[in-house]
Amino acid sequence: KILIVDFGSQVTQLIARRVREEKVYSEIVPYQKAAEAFAEMRPKAVILSGGPCSVLDADAPSAPAEIFAAGVPVLGICYGEQTMAVQLGGTVEGGHHREFGRAEVEVVAPSPLFDGVWRTGERYPVWMSHGDRVTRLPEGFTAIATSDNAPIAAIADEARRYYAVQFHLEVIHTPHGAALIRNFVRNIAGCAGDWSMRAFREEAVARIRETVGPGRVICGLSGGVDSAVAAVLIHEALGDQLTCVLVDHGLMRTAEAERVVTMFRESYNIPLVNVDAEALFLGALEGVTDPEQKRKIIGKLFIDVFEAEAKKLADAGGGPADFLAQGTLYPDVIESVSFTGGPSVTIKSHHNVGGLPARMNMKLVEPLRELFKDEVRALGRELGLPEVFVGRHPFPGPGLAIRCPGAVTKEKVEILRKADAIFLEEIRRAGLYDDIWQAFAVLLPVRTVGVMGDGRTYDHVCALRAVTSVDGMTADFYPFDMGFLGAVATRIVNEVQGINRVTYDITSKPPGTIEWE
Ligand code: XMP
Repeated sequence: KILIVDFGSQVTQLIARRVREEKVYSEIVPYQKAAEAFAEMRPKAVILSGGPCSVLDADAPSAPAEIFAAGVPVLGICYGEQTMAVQLGGTVEGGHHREFGRAEVEVVAPSPLFDGVWRTGERYPVWMSHGDRVTRLPEGFTAIATSDNAPIAAIADEARRYYAVQFHLEVIHTPHGAALIRNFVRNIAGCAGDWSMRAFREEAVARIRETVGPGRVICGLSGGVDSAVAAVLIHEALGDQLTCVLVDHGLMRTAEAERVVTMFRESYNIPLVNVDAEALFLGALEGVTDPEQKRKIIGKLFIDVFEAEAKKLADAGGGPADFLAQGTLYPDVIESVSFTGGPSVTIKSHHNVGGLPARMNMKLVEPLRELFKDEVRALGRELGLPEVFVGRHPFPGPGLAIRCPGAVTKEKVEILRKADAIFLEEIRRAGLYDDIWQAFAVLLPVRTVGVMGDGRTYDHVCALRAVTSVDGMTADFYPFDMGFLGAVATRIVNEVQGINRVTYDITSKPPGTIEWE
């Protein structure tokens, strides 16, 4: 077991993910609760995360002294390095050249941390993001790597098995970072590497039972993989204490709702209520053009519908439903919340997180909150969900509403649905579906002039978007062959009334986001 002490970095969950990839169990706790968690969990090693603060601030957060007194290996990353250095008697200074983004380090001494990965005397690319830097080492430490702007880029006290790095080794932009984490977790900390998705499943089931007790749970199904995996997991934990509700907001893709309803009713025998709420959602969205407002309206209506269904269940004698379960994933959380004291700003209010109203009568159960998409897929396979379903592209809770920039109308949604279906059909036919993270059409609130036959047209523009990604946090546009794009464009303009022009979006994330709103 590894304890990860969180100082509020945007990428702390990536540390946990890397540790999971080594088949080792880890838990993340905020630094304020680290002492308690350390005593209870008795981990084999501790990792201190990065964070937005400076150790030079008056009330800078620190790691509990108990951790350093216990004699377990400790790895500090970025802020974690600095607090470790200061707490053990070194010095950190601010005001130097700041380093952000790509940098290079030179390995200056061998270390078990670098074993089999980095050789002494060589330079390697890393991802840096820091202003302060360590200027004097605590006793017992030596520098094991340097960079141009941080003469002390990595340090180690081999006797005590303390390691600290200035760069972020948990992000993919540090190409060998995962291997260095493996060295720490497997070799230095000596963790066995026998944890798996099966273990996650068992732990999650136990946690759900403990949280919910004898209560009743309503699980919102969106038609996508995440909520389906959450529902099947919760069903395993609670059986018929669970009722699934699929809110058809009229903003789904072709045949989306039917497929899920069939799968749940026929293969899983999980009770499912299918609510037709198209008029309610489209009515509330009428004339609304601001993307955040659209997300907030949709988030609130979802809850209204869930609460109404909960009440119906209670009235029917099933007992009150006090919990609402959702398939929220980690990238939804990180992009929706600003961490305590952190610089992380709200990018967009994902409907199953920040889009929820402040006042809600139901408590949330979110068993996938720590996972990334590919991990949810692995869990889905572990739970026996069919591969065609598990491999589906993600689809956002607010649905096609956020793919119709500007005001949403039923007519626009119908046009969009047709274009989207053609695009995906062609992608499947070309055998590209599994190479792409997500592909969809966007209907722009712009009309342009065209000519068809002998006539003038004045219709909407459709943008196509297809991206590759590992976890949805960053993405690249998919490099289709031009002939493929041309064929899709021809089909859309010919077959979809209301669209006379097609464009392809070649923006990566960042600076774009995957969805347009
Ligand atoms: P962005 O647009 O933020 O999207 O780059 C990242 C991933 O998240 C999906 N997404 C959502 N999923 N509720 C969801 O369940 C939402 O409100 C939401 N907004 C975006 C998006 O489709 C992409 O896969």
